[in-house]
Amino acid sequence: MGLRYLLKETLYYKRLDGSPKRMIYKFLFSKTPLSRLVNTRAYNFFYKKNIDKFTKEHTPTILQIENSNVCNARCIMCPHTKMKRKQRIMSFENFKIIVDEVLSNYRSIKNLTITGFGEATVDRGMIDKIKYVNEMYPWINIDLFTNGALLGKELADELLKRNLHKVNFSINAMEKNYKKITGLNYGLVRENILYFVKRKKELKNKFPLVNFSLMVLKENEKDVKDFINLWERHGDSVMIYRPLDWAGSKKIESVEKPPFVKKRWSCIPLWQSVMVDVDGNIIMCCQDYESKVKFGNVLEEPIKKIMNSKKFQEIREKHKRGDFSMDICRTCDNWINSSLWWWVYN
Ligand SMILES: C[S@@+](CC[C@H](N)C(=O)[O-])C[C@H]1O[C@@H](n2cnc3c(N)ncnc32)[C@H](O)[C@@H]1O
Ligand code: SF4
Repeated sequence: MGLRYLLKETLYYKRLDGSPKRMIYKFLFSKTPLSRLVNTRAYNFFYKKNIDKFTKEHTPTILQIENSNVCNARCIMCPHTKMKRKQRIMSFENFKIIVDEVLSNYRSIKNLTITGFGEATVDRGMIDKIKYVNEMYPWINIDLFTNGALLGKELADELLKRNLHKVNFSINAMEKNYKKITGLNYGLVRENILYFVKRKKELKNKFPLVNFSLMVLKENEKDVKDFINLWERHGDSVMIYRPLDWAGSKKIESVEKPPFVKKRWSCIPLWQSVMVDVDGNIIMCCQDYESKVKFGNVLEEPIKKIMNSKKFQEIREKHKRGDFSMDICRTCDNWINSSLWWWVYN
């Protein structure tokens, strides 16, 4: 990844987080001689101290709600194609109960991601849900991840009237192999995205920030540069990701080398996020697409009781001790950046 790309990413994160901290750390510890310090004894000493301090008093700052686990696509790198959970759309009533329960108990939460293991825009009630959060909890930044295929003019106009913080268009391919990778129609998705960004510009809206993302697969590894050149002028950022294998359950031929594989640290989302699946279950993290590890159901029990349950606390404590033997964690590969996480989000 070139310097220009990193610079753009830094500016984007500055707009997203209000601070460029995330990218500065990433840059310093991956592109400069400081990268040699990562996971040395001194580094580990201070890093551990930082984790201890953070986990002592921390309350969540992110809520993620899976409003739909139905999807209109069949991306080859996504676990959705093999998910066995019953597919459904969350009702407005349940969404409201969840949002009220979580946000009234955790005033520390500032971000809501309306996305799970499915496509959020399949949910025809999505706008009402966003509207509710905008009206009742105006300080909450709402983020959305979408493949863009259902985001036609009408939905785009509605979305642009709401208070959204970020929309990530997961494009994941160039035209020539788009159908093969996603199962969707490139022309339609392109048209939808271009309309969205054109309307946003016409309305002179600073938000939502628009991000385009690409998973680097063996099918598209040669297209990374073209992808960046094609999409960067249309949005605020282009993100190039290395695909995960969803806790060992989706074998993907990855072409990018994972950074910082020397040492594994605790996963920050265990402290930082409240993850709710389409049925209201509080699950461990974004890797658990089958909702295998559940701590309780927020439609039935108080959120604080679930987040502080013995089962959840034990998993957090094990993580802090470096024990990753539990379900999901045992086979997960999402920890590759864990040697940096705790500086960046703290
Ligand atoms: C699971 S999708 C759900 C939201 C929506 N359907 C979408 O595609 O944006 C959320 C994000 O996960 C990404 N994703 C899919 N497969 C992945 C993989 N193997 N590793 C990492 N991210 C992946 C998608 O590109 C998307 O940006
Ligand atoms: S990446 Fe998104 S669009 Fe593609 S199959 Fe998965 S959930 Fe659906």
